[in-house]
Amino acid sequence: MVQSAATLLPQTIGPLKAWKFNPTDEDQRELHQYSPNQEVTIAELAQIGVLYWNIDVSDEKYEDKVETICAERQYKNRDVINIRRETLPNYDQKIKTFFEEHIHEDEEIRFILEGSGFFDVRNRNDEWIRVAATASDMIILPAGMYHRFTLDTNNHIKAMRLFKEDPQWTPLNRDNPTTDSNKFRLEYLKNVHGATVLPQITGPLLAWRFNETNEDQRELHQFTPNQPVSIPELAKLGVLYWNIDVQNEKFMDTVETICSERKYKNRDVINIRKETLPNYDEKIKTFFEEHIHEDEEIRFILDGSGYFDIRDKNDSWIRVAAKASDMIILPAGMYHRFTLDTSNYIKAMRLFKEDPQWTPLNRADVATQSNTFRVSYVKEFHGVSPLKRNSEEAGDVEPLGKAVKVGDADQVAEAAV
Ligand SMILES: [Fe+2]
Repeated sequence: MVQSAATLLPQTIGPLKAWKFNPTDEDQRELHQYSPNQEVTIAELAQIGVLYWNIDVSDEKYEDKVETICAERQYKNRDVINIRRETLPNYDQKIKTFFEEHIHEDEEIRFILEGSGFFDVRNRNDEWIRVAATASDMIILPAGMYHRFTLDTNNHIKAMRLFKEDPQWTPLNRDNPTTDSNKFRLEYLKNVHGATVLPQITGPLLAWRFNETNEDQRELHQFTPNQPVSIPELAKLGVLYWNIDVQNEKFMDTVETICSERKYKNRDVINIRKETLPNYDEKIKTFFEEHIHEDEEIRFILDGSGYFDIRDKNDSWIRVAAKASDMIILPAGMYHRFTLDTSNYIKAMRLFKEDPQWTPLNRADVATQSNTFRVSYVKEFHGVSPLKRNSEEAGDVEPLGKAVKVGDADQVAEAAV
C-alpha cells in the first residue's frame, strides 16, 4: 500500500526544552539539571527517534492539526488522561510506577493539553535526557526506546494519548532480563543507532593517568593519589569498550553480533605466558614501543590481563587495565603501546576487518606523524585541523600481519599484541 507523504512533518525547532539528567537523590519531579545546565536540542532528540510537534492549544483550530497527524500516521484510537495530585488516589506511589524504566512495542504518543511533566529518554550512551513537556507539545517516543515519565512539581498534567489500531503499549520494564532482547528493542537499536550491541560508558574497566617512573613497564605506574580516567573520557578519545562476561556460556553470541555489526571478518587468539614465550622480556619491550595502526586495534581478553597505554589530547599517557571479559577497540591512528602486567599472562582474541592493516607504525619513524590515518584521528578526536598531506604515502607500508579466517583460533603469539 502506497502511503501519501505527510503534510505535517515533525519539527526540529520549537519551544521544547530538554537537558542531560543529573542523577541526584532529589525527588524525581525536580529539574535534575547539571550546573551549568546541559541543554539537548530538538534535533538531537530527533536523532534518537523522538518526534515533536508544537500545536498551540489556544488556537481554536488546533484539533484539525491533531486530526491530520492522526490520519497521516494512522492513529485510530485515543483517550485523555487527567492527573492531579489532589484527585488521584495513591498519587505518590503511582508516579513512582510511571517512573520505572521501560519500553513499549509501539510508539508512545502524548499530546499535552494542560499542565506539564517530564519524559526521560535514554541517549546513545544510555544516559538520561529529560524532556520537559508542556501544553501544546506533541511528543512521540519510538517503539523500543527506554524511557520513563514523571509529573513535575506542579503535580498536574492533562494529556491526550494516541494509539494505532492495536495498541501494544504495555510497559516492558528494563529490569526484566528479556526486555533487552525484545524484537522491538533490537529494531529500535538497529534503526536509530545502526547496531544492537552498543559500546558501554559504564562498566568495571579501570584506567588512570600513567606516572612516568623508572619502574618496570609491568608495574601499575599510578600517581599518589591515583588519578583515575573514566570510560566516557576514554570514549572521547575514540576508545570503545564492551564488557562481555566470558563466564556466561553465551558470551560468543555477543562477540559474533559485534563482529557482524562492525564487519570484523577475521580473528585469531594469542596466548602469551612468560614461561612459554621465547625471549619474553625482549618481546614485551617490542610491544611497548609507541605506535599507531592504519586500522582499529580490537582485543577481547579471554583470560589473564595486561595494560594498553594510550595518548590523550595533551600527549600524556593513560593506562587502561584490560582483563578477562573486556573488549577494547583503539581507533586507527591513535598512539598506543601494550604491556603484560606482573601476572605475565594474557590470552586475547584479536579481531580484524577484511583487510587487516595492523602493522605497527612506530612513532620513532618521522613519517608516522603525517600518516593519513594519524591525521584523520587527530582531526576527529582532538579537533585539530590536520596537516596537509598526500594520502598516497599511507600506502607505502607493506602489511606484515597475517590474519586467519574465522574459526582458526588458538594460535600462539608471533606478532605484536
Ligand atoms: Fe597496536
